[in-house]
Amino acid sequence: IKMRIIIVKNIEAGGKKGAQIFSEALANGAKVFGLATGSTPVTTYQALAASDIDFSNSVSINLDEYVGLTPDNSQSYHYFMQKNLFDFKPFKKSYVPDGNNLDAAEVIDQYNHIIETNPIDLQILGIGQNGHIGFNEPGTPFDSETHEVALSQSTINANSRFFSSPEEVPQKAYSMGIASIMGAKQILLEAFGEKKAQIIKDALQGPVTEDVPASVLQQHPDLTVILDEAAASQL
Ligand code: GLP
Repeated sequence: IKMRIIIVKNIEAGGKKGAQIFSEALANGAKVFGLATGSTPVTTYQALAASDIDFSNSVSINLDEYVGLTPDNSQSYHYFMQKNLFDFKPFKKSYVPDGNNLDAAEVIDQYNHIIETNPIDLQILGIGQNGHIGFNEPGTPFDSETHEVALSQSTINANSRFFSSPEEVPQKAYSMGIASIMGAKQILLEAFGEKKAQIIKDALQGPVTEDVPASVLQQHPDLTVILDEAAASQL
């Protein structure tokens, strides 16, 4: 097992480190980047946006998307990626699950095919307070590929800060599965803030169990973790 933990002062420093890892991967020949949403990767995307990195020959594949939101909905992950990264650093091709398509079987087939034909070189991940990665909630099988997810109440509540009320948060999402994520050649997990301290301890030092989806990362051969001091405080 090769786990590298980098502890930084704050989320800004974490973003710079994260961007550096992207640059190194690109220099080492990475072609396909697995991307994530949420507040965690934002400073990494800012640092990338401010850098001279060029993704115009790269492919991006996002982890997940809400079901029922169109790409132009400001709460969709399509929109998030556009505003936070793609407007500054366009990729040759960017994939996000088609949340607008309610035919789950079709979306799942398409997305699994995209991942198979574009094996991910570097996958960036945030972590939910219950240990979810992507939208893989506790109990998701480790061998899962792309699937439709019923979001847990705690995830809906946590994400409701981006909506005007919890009722507006979609109840379902499409997400890459745990096996899809583990298939990435290199994984970069980021967590910042005191609210992530307990789950970081459970995920990195606790038992590997489907009850804590991120604990599977302990079994990945090339994992880098960037934490600020608060998120690392329980280790
Ligand atoms: C959402 C996303 C995850 C993300 C998590 C944590 O549920 N689907 O990919 O890691 O939230 O969000 P944040 O980074 O805002 O703490």
